[in-house]
Amino acid sequence: MSVRHLVNFADLSADEIRGLIARATELKQRRAKGDKPRIFEHKVLVMIFEKSSTRTRVSFETAMLEGGGGAVFLSPRDSQLGRGEPVEDTARVLSEMCDAIMVRTFAHDTVERLAAHARVPVINGLTDRSHPCQLLADMQTFFEHRGDIAGRKVAWVGDGNNMCNTYIEAAATLGFELAVAVPPGFEPALLSPQASANPRITLCRDPQEAVRGADLVVTDVWVSMGQEQEAQRRREQLAAYQVDAALMAKAAPGALFMHCLPAHRGEEVASEVLDAPGSVVWDEAGNRLHAQKALLEFLFKHVG
Ligand code: CP
Ligand code: NVA
Repeated sequence: MSVRHLVNFADLSADEIRGLIARATELKQRRAKGDKPRIFEHKVLVMIFEKSSTRTRVSFETAMLEGGGGAVFLSPRDSQLGRGEPVEDTARVLSEMCDAIMVRTFAHDTVERLAAHARVPVINGLTDRSHPCQLLADMQTFFEHRGDIAGRKVAWVGDGNNMCNTYIEAAATLGFELAVAVPPGFEPALLSPQASANPRITLCRDPQEAVRGADLVVTDVWVSMGQEQEAQRRREQLAAYQVDAALMAKAAPGALFMHCLPAHRGEEVASEVLDAPGSVVWDEAGNRLHAQKALLEFLFKHVG
């Protein structure tokens, strides 16, 4: 039996991503008219959360419910995962009972191990390395506001974290230019400071240089989940990387602003940017629901 997973954004081809975005937008438009097709009847998604979540949990659970299926929430605190049952055995057991598994965890290899041993689709709901579901929603949001992102310029400003890594994957797949501005020591794992294999993905230190001509400016929290011990050092070293109105003014006219949320107003982003007309963060959050419906539908179709 073959099965598709979403462990890395690169697991999807450019055509598949464009297809998912088109379907997500169609489902969104139908929902706005009160039409919620029952595309997940008799399907159950198990959601494993080793980290906190608002958007990811609510969007996946709502997607399953609206499609006529169900979702089961598991955390290490109240499941045998927290008492040492191996991930590999968990994957085999859940495959006997449910139709897909979504996992939010620390180590990326937890998702890889689940996928290697599951007979149902496994979805990465965020790891320390990446957040592919968020990128599907971000790309849907850009396409809806500005059309195809191929050939456009995106600036990443701040910490080279899991979201930044996923933008690097997306730039390679969808063909957009990506300028990453991070301080020394905050480089994304997927981009070497020495050289990028892709000349359209560049690393610099100056946020103003990165945003010049950018159609989209993106940032994320300076202290990701699991980095709480380093909070003070991170805030000090990233202080010059706040996205404020002055920085947005250096981007291309009409540039959009995105942030996966939750945002720390006054840290990585000034409130004036989050609340400005160019900010599409609420659409971006809402699109998690539609993009993941399209993703789940795609993955269920590819089990066989
Ligand atoms: N953006 C995002 O994944 O949000 P949550 O942590 O609330 O799920
Ligand atoms: N980089 C953040 C994203 C949260 C959705 C984190 O990992 O905490």
